[in-house]
Amino acid sequence: MAIPIKNAEAIRRMREACAIAAEILAKLKEQARPGVTTYDLDQIGRDLIASYGARSAPYGYRHGSGRPFPAYTCLSVNEEVVHGIGSLKRILRDGDIIALDVTVEYNGYIGDNAITVPIGHIAPRVAELLKVTERALYIGIEQAQVGNRIGDISHAIQVYVEAHGFGIVREMVGHGVGQSMHEEPQIPNFGRKGTGEKIKPGMTLAIEPMVNLGVHQVRTLSDGWTIVTADGKPSAHFEHTVLTTDSGPEILTVPRAAS
Ligand code: MF3
Ligand code: CO
Ligand code: CO
Repeated sequence: MAIPIKNAEAIRRMREACAIAAEILAKLKEQARPGVTTYDLDQIGRDLIASYGARSAPYGYRHGSGRPFPAYTCLSVNEEVVHGIGSLKRILRDGDIIALDVTVEYNGYIGDNAITVPIGHIAPRVAELLKVTERALYIGIEQAQVGNRIGDISHAIQVYVEAHGFGIVREMVGHGVGQSMHEEPQIPNFGRKGTGEKIKPGMTLAIEPMVNLGVHQVRTLSDGWTIVTADGKPSAHFEHTVLTTDSGPEILTVPRAAS
Protein backbone atom coordinates (compact mmCIF):
# COMPACT_ATOMS: atom_id res chain seq x y z
CA MET A 1 0.00 0.00 0.00
CA ALA A 2 1.27 3.42 -0.96
CA ILE A 3 1.13 6.56 1.15
CA PRO A 4 -2.01 8.54 0.24
CA ILE A 5 -1.35 11.86 -1.52
CA LYS A 6 -4.07 14.43 -0.86
CA ASN A 7 -5.46 16.51 -3.71
CA ALA A 8 -6.59 20.13 -3.31
CA GLU A 9 -10.07 19.20 -2.07
CA ALA A 10 -8.72 16.65 0.43
CA ILE A 11 -6.23 19.25 1.69
CA ARG A 12 -9.03 21.80 2.09
CA ARG A 13 -10.97 19.33 4.22
CA MET A 14 -7.86 18.32 6.19
CA ARG A 15 -7.28 21.98 7.03
CA GLU A 16 -10.80 22.25 8.40
CA ALA A 17 -10.69 19.03 10.44
CA CYS A 18 -7.25 19.89 11.82
CA ALA A 19 -8.24 23.46 12.76
CA ILE A 20 -11.25 22.07 14.63
CA ALA A 21 -9.07 19.51 16.42
CA ALA A 22 -6.68 22.31 17.44
CA GLU A 23 -9.45 24.62 18.67
CA ILE A 24 -10.97 21.83 20.75
CA LEU A 25 -7.56 20.97 22.21
CA ALA A 26 -6.96 24.62 23.17
CA LYS A 27 -10.34 24.79 24.92
CA LEU A 28 -9.82 21.47 26.68
CA LYS A 29 -6.45 22.66 27.96
CA GLU A 30 -8.15 25.55 29.77
CA GLN A 31 -10.19 23.04 31.77
CA ALA A 32 -7.24 20.96 32.96
CA ARG A 33 -6.68 22.14 36.53
CA PRO A 34 -6.46 20.75 40.08
CA GLY A 35 -9.64 19.07 41.35
CA VAL A 36 -11.02 18.10 37.94
CA THR A 37 -11.43 14.38 37.21
CA THR A 38 -10.28 13.00 33.88
CA TYR A 39 -13.85 11.76 33.39
CA ASP A 40 -15.07 15.36 33.61
CA LEU A 41 -12.42 16.43 31.11
CA ASP A 42 -13.47 13.73 28.67
CA GLN A 43 -17.10 14.83 28.97
CA ILE A 44 -16.03 18.40 28.25
CA GLY A 45 -14.15 17.04 25.23
CA ARG A 46 -17.24 15.16 24.07
CA ASP A 47 -19.36 18.31 24.29
CA LEU A 48 -16.75 20.44 22.50
CA ILE A 49 -16.52 17.91 19.67
CA ALA A 50 -20.31 17.89 19.34
CA SER A 51 -20.41 21.71 19.34
CA TYR A 52 -18.29 21.69 16.16
CA GLY A 53 -20.48 19.08 14.50
CA ALA A 54 -17.47 16.77 14.51
CA ARG A 55 -17.03 13.15 15.59
CA SER A 56 -14.51 11.65 18.00
CA ALA A 57 -12.26 9.32 16.00
CA PRO A 58 -11.07 7.32 19.06
CA TYR A 59 -14.58 6.64 20.42
CA GLY A 60 -15.49 3.07 19.51
CA TYR A 61 -12.16 2.55 17.72
CA ARG A 62 -10.73 -0.97 17.98
CA HIS A 63 -7.58 -2.63 16.93
CA GLY A 64 -8.09 -6.24 15.95
CA SER A 65 -10.56 -8.08 18.16
CA GLY A 66 -9.87 -5.87 21.17
CA ARG A 67 -12.37 -3.79 23.12
CA PRO A 68 -13.56 -0.59 21.47
CA PHE A 69 -12.02 2.57 22.95
CA PRO A 70 -14.63 3.81 25.46
CA ALA A 71 -13.83 7.55 25.64
CA TYR A 72 -13.98 10.62 23.39
CA THR A 73 -10.47 11.87 23.99
CA CYS A 74 -7.23 10.27 25.19
CA LEU A 75 -6.22 11.64 28.60
CA SER A 76 -2.98 10.31 30.03
CA VAL A 77 -1.80 11.39 33.49
CA ASN A 78 1.80 11.16 34.77
CA GLU A 79 3.02 7.57 34.15
CA GLU A 80 0.29 7.05 31.53
CA VAL A 81 1.94 7.46 28.12
CA VAL A 82 -1.00 7.47 25.70
CA HIS A 83 -4.57 6.11 25.31
CA GLY A 84 -5.57 6.96 28.89
CA ILE A 85 -9.30 6.64 29.55
CA GLY A 86 -11.01 9.37 31.57
CA SER A 87 -11.98 8.12 35.03
CA LEU A 88 -13.94 9.51 37.99
CA LYS A 89 -11.20 8.08 40.19
CA ARG A 90 -8.41 10.11 38.60
CA ILE A 91 -8.53 13.58 40.10
CA LEU A 92 -5.94 16.04 38.83
CA ARG A 93 -3.66 17.35 41.58
CA ASP A 94 -0.96 19.96 41.86
CA GLY A 95 2.26 18.55 40.42
CA ASP A 96 0.59 16.24 37.89
CA ILE A 97 1.03 16.40 34.14
CA ILE A 98 -1.65 15.35 31.66
CA ALA A 99 -1.43 14.56 27.97
CA LEU A 100 -4.55 15.65 26.06
CA ASP A 101 -4.91 13.96 22.67
CA VAL A 102 -7.81 15.15 20.50
CA THR A 103 -8.61 13.39 17.24
CA VAL A 104 -11.73 14.39 15.31
CA GLU A 105 -13.37 13.62 12.02
CA TYR A 106 -15.11 16.43 10.22
CA ASN A 107 -16.58 16.16 6.74
CA GLY A 108 -14.81 12.86 6.13
CA TYR A 109 -11.30 13.89 7.18
CA ILE A 110 -9.39 13.55 10.42
CA GLY A 111 -7.20 15.92 12.43
CA ASP A 112 -5.00 14.57 15.25
CA ASN A 113 -3.13 16.62 17.85
CA ALA A 114 -1.89 16.39 21.42
CA ILE A 115 -0.19 18.44 24.11
CA THR A 116 0.99 17.71 27.63
CA VAL A 117 0.29 20.34 30.25
CA PRO A 118 1.36 20.88 33.85
CA ILE A 119 -1.20 20.97 36.65
CA GLY A 120 -0.06 23.65 39.07
CA HIS A 121 3.60 23.47 40.03
CA ILE A 122 5.65 20.57 38.65
CA ALA A 123 9.14 19.29 39.48
CA PRO A 124 11.99 20.86 37.43
CA ARG A 125 12.95 17.59 35.72
CA VAL A 126 9.30 17.05 34.72
CA ALA A 127 9.14 20.58 33.33
CA GLU A 128 12.24 19.72 31.30
CA LEU A 129 10.52 16.55 30.06
CA LEU A 130 7.63 18.65 28.70
CA LYS A 131 9.96 21.16 27.08
CA VAL A 132 12.15 18.51 25.45
CA THR A 133 9.16 16.51 24.16
CA GLU A 134 7.56 19.59 22.59
CA ARG A 135 10.87 20.64 21.06
CA ALA A 136 11.36 17.08 19.76
CA LEU A 137 8.05 17.40 17.91
CA TYR A 138 9.22 20.57 16.14
CA ILE A 139 12.61 19.04 15.37
CA GLY A 140 10.79 16.11 13.78
CA ILE A 141 8.46 18.39 11.82
CA GLU A 142 11.46 20.30 10.46
CA GLN A 143 12.62 17.06 8.82
CA ALA A 144 9.28 16.53 7.02
CA GLN A 145 10.75 18.03 3.85
CA VAL A 146 9.97 16.85 0.34
CA GLY A 147 12.89 14.64 -0.75
CA ASN A 148 13.71 13.55 2.81
CA ARG A 149 12.73 10.13 4.11
CA ILE A 150 10.53 9.19 7.06
CA GLY A 151 13.62 7.89 8.88
CA ASP A 152 15.03 11.43 8.87
CA ILE A 153 12.12 12.50 11.09
CA SER A 154 12.58 9.45 13.33
CA HIS A 155 16.32 9.90 13.70
CA ALA A 156 16.21 13.61 14.50
CA ILE A 157 13.65 13.05 17.26
CA GLN A 158 15.57 10.15 18.81
CA VAL A 159 18.93 11.92 18.85
CA TYR A 160 17.50 15.06 20.45
CA VAL A 161 15.52 13.20 23.12
CA GLU A 162 18.31 10.83 24.09
CA ALA A 163 20.81 13.69 24.35
CA HIS A 164 18.67 14.93 27.24
CA GLY A 165 18.74 11.56 29.00
CA PHE A 166 15.09 10.71 28.41
CA GLY A 167 13.62 7.49 26.99
CA ILE A 168 11.97 7.61 23.57
CA VAL A 169 8.99 5.24 23.34
CA ARG A 170 9.28 2.63 20.59
CA GLU A 171 6.02 0.67 20.73
CA MET A 172 3.79 3.48 19.48
CA VAL A 173 4.50 5.56 16.40
CA GLY A 174 3.28 8.56 14.42
CA HIS A 175 1.34 7.92 11.25
CA GLY A 176 -0.27 9.16 8.11
CA VAL A 177 -3.74 10.61 8.76
CA GLY A 178 -6.60 11.50 6.42
CA GLN A 179 -9.86 9.71 5.76
CA SER A 180 -8.66 7.16 8.31
CA MET A 181 -7.08 7.95 11.68
CA HIS A 182 -4.13 5.69 10.94
CA GLU A 183 -2.83 5.57 7.38
CA GLU A 184 0.56 4.74 5.96
CA PRO A 185 3.31 5.47 6.69
CA GLN A 186 4.24 4.58 10.22
CA ILE A 187 6.49 7.28 11.69
CA PRO A 188 8.65 5.83 14.48
CA ASN A 189 10.30 8.25 16.90
CA PHE A 190 13.58 6.39 16.60
CA GLY A 191 15.52 5.13 13.63
CA ARG A 192 18.14 5.78 11.02
CA LYS A 193 18.63 8.69 8.64
CA GLY A 194 17.94 8.01 4.98
CA THR A 195 15.67 5.02 5.66
CA GLY A 196 11.95 4.56 5.05
CA GLU A 197 9.60 6.07 2.50
CA LYS A 198 10.47 9.18 0.52
CA ILE A 199 8.45 12.27 1.44
CA LYS A 200 6.40 13.76 -1.40
CA PRO A 201 4.14 16.83 -1.55
CA GLY A 202 0.56 16.30 -0.35
CA MET A 203 1.20 13.85 2.48
CA THR A 204 -0.57 14.50 5.77
CA LEU A 205 1.46 13.13 8.66
CA ALA A 206 0.78 12.93 12.39
CA ILE A 207 4.14 13.32 14.09
CA GLU A 208 4.03 12.47 17.78
CA PRO A 209 7.00 11.85 20.05
CA MET A 210 6.21 10.06 23.32
CA VAL A 211 9.02 10.61 25.81
CA ASN A 212 9.60 8.97 29.19
CA LEU A 213 11.45 10.56 32.10
CA GLY A 214 13.03 7.18 32.87
CA VAL A 215 13.29 3.99 30.81
CA HIS A 216 11.76 3.86 27.33
CA GLN A 217 9.87 0.61 28.00
CA VAL A 218 6.08 0.63 28.42
CA ARG A 219 3.29 -1.84 29.22
CA THR A 220 -0.46 -1.99 28.67
CA LEU A 221 -2.91 -1.92 31.59
CA SER A 222 -5.61 -4.62 31.97
CA ASP A 223 -8.19 -2.22 30.44
CA GLY A 224 -6.55 -3.21 27.15
CA TRP A 225 -5.81 0.42 26.21
CA THR A 226 -3.86 2.51 28.68
CA ILE A 227 -0.13 2.48 27.97
CA VAL A 228 2.03 3.21 31.03
CA THR A 229 5.76 3.50 31.60
CA ALA A 230 7.44 0.29 32.79
CA ASP A 231 9.12 2.14 35.69
CA GLY A 232 6.11 4.22 36.72
CA LYS A 233 7.87 7.51 36.01
CA PRO A 234 6.13 10.32 34.08
CA SER A 235 5.80 10.48 30.29
CA ALA A 236 4.95 13.29 27.87
CA HIS A 237 3.36 13.43 24.41
CA PHE A 238 3.03 16.21 21.82
CA GLU A 239 1.50 15.79 18.36
CA HIS A 240 0.67 17.80 15.26
CA THR A 241 -0.83 16.90 11.90
CA VAL A 242 1.46 18.29 9.19
CA LEU A 243 1.05 18.77 5.42
CA THR A 244 4.15 18.25 3.29
CA THR A 245 4.64 20.83 0.52
CA ASP A 246 7.38 21.89 -1.88
CA SER A 247 7.95 24.91 0.33
CA GLY A 248 8.31 22.83 3.50
CA PRO A 249 6.11 21.29 6.19
CA GLU A 250 2.93 23.14 7.16
CA ILE A 251 1.36 22.45 10.54
CA LEU A 252 -2.39 21.99 10.00
CA THR A 253 -3.43 21.59 13.63
CA VAL A 254 -3.54 25.28 14.47
CA PRO A 255 -6.65 27.15 15.64
CA ARG A 256 -8.20 29.56 13.16
CA ALA A 257 -7.98 33.20 14.17
CA ALA A 258 -10.89 34.21 16.41
CA SER A 259 -13.37 36.24 14.35
N1 MF3 B 1 -4.90 10.08 18.93
C1 MF3 B 1 -4.27 8.78 18.81
C2 MF3 B 1 -3.08 8.92 17.88
O1 MF3 B 1 -2.36 9.86 18.02
C3 MF3 B 1 -5.20 7.76 18.36
C4 MF3 B 1 -6.20 7.39 19.37
S1 MF3 B 1 -6.02 5.76 19.69
C5 MF3 B 1 -7.53 5.24 20.14
O2 MF3 B 1 -2.82 8.15 16.99
F1 MF3 B 1 -7.49 3.99 20.11
F2 MF3 B 1 -7.73 5.72 21.31
F3 MF3 B 1 -8.40 5.65 19.31
CO1 CO C 1 -3.31 11.64 18.65
CO1 CO D 1 -1.68 10.24 16.15
